[in-house]
Amino acid sequence: MARLNLLEETRYEKLPVTVYNNQQDASLAVAARIAKLIKDKEAKGEKTVLGLATGVTPIGVYAELVRLHKEESLSFKNVITFNLEEYYPMQPNAAQSYVTFMNENLFNHVDIDKKNVHIPDGTLTQDDVAAFCLDYEQKITKLGGLDLQILGIGRTGHIGFNEPGSAPNSGTRLVTLDDLTRNDASRDFGGKQNVPTKAITMGVGTIFKAREIILMAWSQKKAPIVKKAVEGEISGEVPATYLQLSDHVEFVLDEAAASSLTRFNTPWLVKDCSWENGLKKKAVIWLADTLDKPILKLTEEDYNNHGMAQLAVEQGPVYNINIDIFTQSSVSFRRFNAAIITLKQTRWVPLGSAKSPAANTWWGFTFCNKSMVNCMSSSPTVFFLIFPVS
Ligand code: F6R
Repeated sequence: MARLNLLEETRYEKLPVTVYNNQQDASLAVAARIAKLIKDKEAKGEKTVLGLATGVTPIGVYAELVRLHKEESLSFKNVITFNLEEYYPMQPNAAQSYVTFMNENLFNHVDIDKKNVHIPDGTLTQDDVAAFCLDYEQKITKLGGLDLQILGIGRTGHIGFNEPGSAPNSGTRLVTLDDLTRNDASRDFGGKQNVPTKAITMGVGTIFKAREIILMAWSQKKAPIVKKAVEGEISGEVPATYLQLSDHVEFVLDEAAASSLTRFNTPWLVKDCSWENGLKKKAVIWLADTLDKPILKLTEEDYNNHGMAQLAVEQGPVYNINIDIFTQSSVSFRRFNAAIITLKQTRWVPLGSAKSPAANTWWGFTFCNKSMVNCMSSSPTVFFLIFPVS
C-alpha cells in the first residue's frame, strides 16, 4: 500500500526526506545519529553493526565521527562494520581501493578493532567469489543484521553498486559497473580505461534488511536522480526507487540535491505560494513549456488545471499575467519561446545548450528528426539549427 502522506507539500514524495541547508549540517546530523546508536547499544552491552559507504558523500560524516572519537570519547570498540562494495579486481593497498578509502577516512583514526571491519575482497579468484559473497551475507545475519546502513546514490540510481537492472531481492554478488559509474570514477583512476569494469557489492536485498537506512545526497549534480528515486515509480531502471518499499528509510539531502523535488522546483503544485515576481515568471514559463503553448495563449483553465489557480485568483485575469510575463521577457527569450514551440510542433527535438563566452548568451541547438529529413530531402542530411536563448 502506498505510504500515507499527510502533508500536502510532500505528497509527491514516496519516502521520508529531510533537507538541510548544506551538506555540512546534514553530515553532522547523520554522524550524531550514528554516535547515538553506538552509545545506546553500548549502554545495553550490545555491539553496533554498521553498513558503510564510500565515495565523496559520506566523507563529512566520517570526519565528524573521527572528531567525536577524539574530542568526545566516542568509542568504536563495540562497532562491527560491513562496507557496501569493493572494485574487482582490486588490491587492498591500492590508492583507489575502498580499503584504503575507509582506512584513511575513518578506521585509522578511531579505536575500531580491525578484526571487526569487513570489506568485500577484490583479490579473490573468480571461482572463489560466490562462496565469499555467501559468507559475507551469513556473517551479517549471524551478527543479527545491520543496525544502520548508510548510502550514497550514483547518477545511474545505483545504491551500493546495484546498477540499473538489479533485482530487489539481490544479495552480495559480482556485478558489472554501468558506463556512467565508470565515467564518474575515472578521475580517481586517471582515466576511465583504468576503472575496473566489475565490483563485488552487497545486494539491494542485503541493504533492505538493515533496521535503518539513511541515503545521503549532496549537490545539484544529484538533483535529477534524487527526484526519480523519491518521486518516481518503483523500477529496476532506478534501483534506489526500491527504497520506497522500506519502512525504515530516510533520505537526507542538502538544498541543492533536493532542488528538483516538486515542493522546491514547482511549489505551486503542492502548496500556496507567495507570488513574488521571480516565482510568477518561473511558473508561467513552466506552464507554457509544459503545455507547449505560447505564453500569450495560456488560459484560465490552463492555470487552474496546473496548480496555478491561486495565482490566477490573486493576480488575474490571466491574460494580464500573461502579458506581464511576456513583456518582462527579453526579445531573445520571446524568440526562443516561439522557436521551441515551433520545434515541438514540427517534432524537432532540442538537444541541448551551450554558452558563448564572448556574448554571454546561451545558445540552444537541435537536430531535426529522421521523419523531417525524409519529408524535406531524400539525402541523409542532418540539419543543425542554432538559436539564441537569453
Ligand atoms: C559507495 C557506494 C556508491 C556511492 C555512489 C555515490 O560505497 O555505494 O553507491 O554511494 O556512487 O558516490 P559519491 O558519493 O562519490 O557521489
